Amino acid sequence: MSDIRHLIDISTLTVEEIDALIKTALDIIENPAKYSEKCRGKKLATLFYEPSTRTRLSFESAMLELGGSVIGFSEAQSSSASKGESVADTAKVISCFADIIAMRHPLEGAPMVAALNASIPVINAGDGGHNHPTQTLTDLLTIYREKGRLGHMTVGCCGDLKFGRTVHSLIAAMSRYEGVDFVLISPEELRVPENVRNDILKANNIPYRETESLLEAMPDLDILYMTRVQRERFISEADYVRLKDTYIMTPDKLMDAKETLSILHPLPRVNEISVAVDKDPRACYFRQVLNGKYIRMALILMLLGVK
Ligand code: NCD
Repeated sequence: MSDIRHLIDISTLTVEEIDALIKTALDIIENPAKYSEKCRGKKLATLFYEPSTRTRLSFESAMLELGGSVIGFSEAQSSSASKGESVADTAKVISCFADIIAMRHPLEGAPMVAALNASIPVINAGDGGHNHPTQTLTDLLTIYREKGRLGHMTVGCCGDLKFGRTVHSLIAAMSRYEGVDFVLISPEELRVPENVRNDILKANNIPYRETESLLEAMPDLDILYMTRVQRERFISEADYVRLKDTYIMTPDKLMDAKETLSILHPLPRVNEISVAVDKDPRACYFRQVLNGKYIRMALILMLLGVK
């Protein structure tokens, strides 16, 4: 890879860079007009080999609000992947048309392969059950806006911690802030993968505990990060059906929660948060969606080197 800057894994951003992205996003929120021409003449290509609503459309809105334009595809079937083209070749081709790529792919590592072959920045918009760094930037901006800080808090992650890529990236990022500890709430079969436990949590002496009980964990939490059971990553549909409703958050389950709790969810939600929770002021997940557009605007500016 040359000196082109990509975002494949959240760990390749320093804490200072993350903080700078948050600062830019906050400035965009305050002064949108200042940014409306920053990417005039630039093109974003969204290469989505997997379904998406928020991530793709927030990337596209982000580029449009920076004055740039957007090309791309939203399913593998409509691209040359269906004819057998490799990700490496597609990345070379798109480098002829666009200035920056956002790629989502069901195979872990595919955006990395694209980055190794592209001559423009590549952003990982989710690769299989692996990572989702721009969702994490969204989550960090949300936590910062809700709490006024990113350290000194107990973060509960609940649901499918095995296949949920957003959780893997969130743990990697939040582990780097002072005074953060984790409560990992999942059924035994959906615990965080070994590499997250060993290479991130244990390797950095981050306090964490694992439990199957959301109710038991609730009183301790400052952040509750709910996730959907990732049906598309299960080999057995019967296992999915058995596990899918393990956690269903309803207003009564918040009885022992802190008044200052913030409930996040990367969305889409299936059953794991009842709609009755939406009107609780602690439910942040729709505010979180909007933050995704602002932080992606900041990221596009950074990777394109626009001042
Ligand atoms: C997440 C994803 O794609 O990993 N969605 C998103 O980008 N907001 C979470 C999910 O699909 O469950």
